Amino acid sequence: MAPVTDAGTIESRVRIGVLGCGNVGAALIQLIADRGDDILARTGLRLEVTRVAVRNTAKARPVELAEGVVTHDAGGVVDDPDVDLVVEVIGGIEPARTLTLDALKAGKPVVSANKELLASMGAEIFDAADAAGVDVLFEAAVAGAIPLIRPLRESLAGERITRVMGIVNGTTNFILTRMTEDGTSYQEALAEAQSLGYAERDPTADVEGFDAGAKAAIIAMIAFGARVVAGDVYHEGISGITPADIAFARHLGYVVKLLAVVEELDGEIAVRVHPAMVPSDHPLASVRESFNAVFIEGDAVGDLMLYGRGAGGFPTASAVLGDLIDAAVNLRKGSSAHIGRLGAARIRPIDEVRSGYYLNVEVFDRPGVLAAVASVFGEHGVSIRSMEQEGLGDEARLIFITHEAYERDVAATLHDLKNLDVVGTVGSVLRVVGDH
Ligand code: NDP
Ligand code: HSE
Repeated sequence: MAPVTDAGTIESRVRIGVLGCGNVGAALIQLIADRGDDILARTGLRLEVTRVAVRNTAKARPVELAEGVVTHDAGGVVDDPDVDLVVEVIGGIEPARTLTLDALKAGKPVVSANKELLASMGAEIFDAADAAGVDVLFEAAVAGAIPLIRPLRESLAGERITRVMGIVNGTTNFILTRMTEDGTSYQEALAEAQSLGYAERDPTADVEGFDAGAKAAIIAMIAFGARVVAGDVYHEGISGITPADIAFARHLGYVVKLLAVVEELDGEIAVRVHPAMVPSDHPLASVRESFNAVFIEGDAVGDLMLYGRGAGGFPTASAVLGDLIDAAVNLRKGSSAHIGRLGAARIRPIDEVRSGYYLNVEVFDRPGVLAAVASVFGEHGVSIRSMEQEGLGDEARLIFITHEAYERDVAATLHDLKNLDVVGTVGSVLRVVGDH
């Protein structure tokens, strides 16, 4: 497209309605103001924020908004003939769902950062966008500023992706980093994450894995073209991780991370979020603080890792702005980036998924105990990769790392171990991911 310098022509203007002016919306409006001339020079388009919807119009905003732009009527923004393109940064399911579908039905492209909405009804939204022949773009919904959705959809379109593993929640990565590096307790680290603004208002979504689960569902849809919703994702959080687990992991050459793991296994999709021990030389082990990273494994491409800020107003708004520019260019060209229909795939239950495991078993320190414990593993077909004893007498514990085994077999092993009279308690059990 030839550069256009006349910002006033109708063809060069794309009028934006922004739904929400919180952390992300306000940062986006600021970026559009700051970068408007560059965007015009590069694309020939002048992005103009004509309407902004908020809940409370009396609240002060950190960005300048012209008289008459702000309203509490989000539906009115979608319907406004002075809005060509809609950005949804309200969050949650309703009214975001209705607003998004109404905009698409009206032929207006939508840019969204709403992982919750996309993870619960992505297929419905993609179908509505395809039916209307307009874009729905959502780069910011997974891993904030990190370009992930576009690389999966475009750069890796010809790749057979086998697995995507990600640290996709900044709050939990911050907490685990503090616990690992400073010995901070879980509660103290969570309080610090909240004071720094990383955690959701209700941090349960972060620490119990719901937020990462929504992102995992979106990754699965895009990487494998399959209908996956947040409810399909097996998830465990980090609230049960103890300083002792972290210390044992370090001793064994691992770090503990909350991982989203999405795999295609013989035509089925396995999608889960759980804490895992990652070898300390694995690229994901070096992702510290509130940073996110996504590790992609493909047949031809081999291993790839994308790294960056997973949260925060400006980093997230940067991803929204990238989508906005794409959607504006496509709108003016009369084209759109089709996601295509998502196929049905069986979601493999966690019982049928294989992983390595770390088990920490308190035992009585006397002859024959190791043989008794080891035979339980053998009875369930769980192969021990390494074992060591920590402590003596009443303090004795056996620490096992297993080879890959089915979750159901490890569960059966645990059940029988708990019933052995030479075993005190079975302490933490963590999956081991990324071993060579
Ligand atoms: P905020 O809570 O900061 O902002 C939400 C905005 O939506 C507020 O301006 C609020 O108005 C407005 N709003 C809420 N309900 C309505 C309504 N019914 N009608 C009109 N406006 C409404 O959220 P964030 O900016 O942090 O997040 C926005 C989206 O971006 C979410 O989907 C989130 O998951 C996603 N996201 C956020 C990231 C982050 O780091 N913050 C990272 C990645 C994604 P008011 O200000 O008046 O209350
Ligand atoms: N609370 C989320 C996080 C924000 O900590 O990563 C981004 O989705």
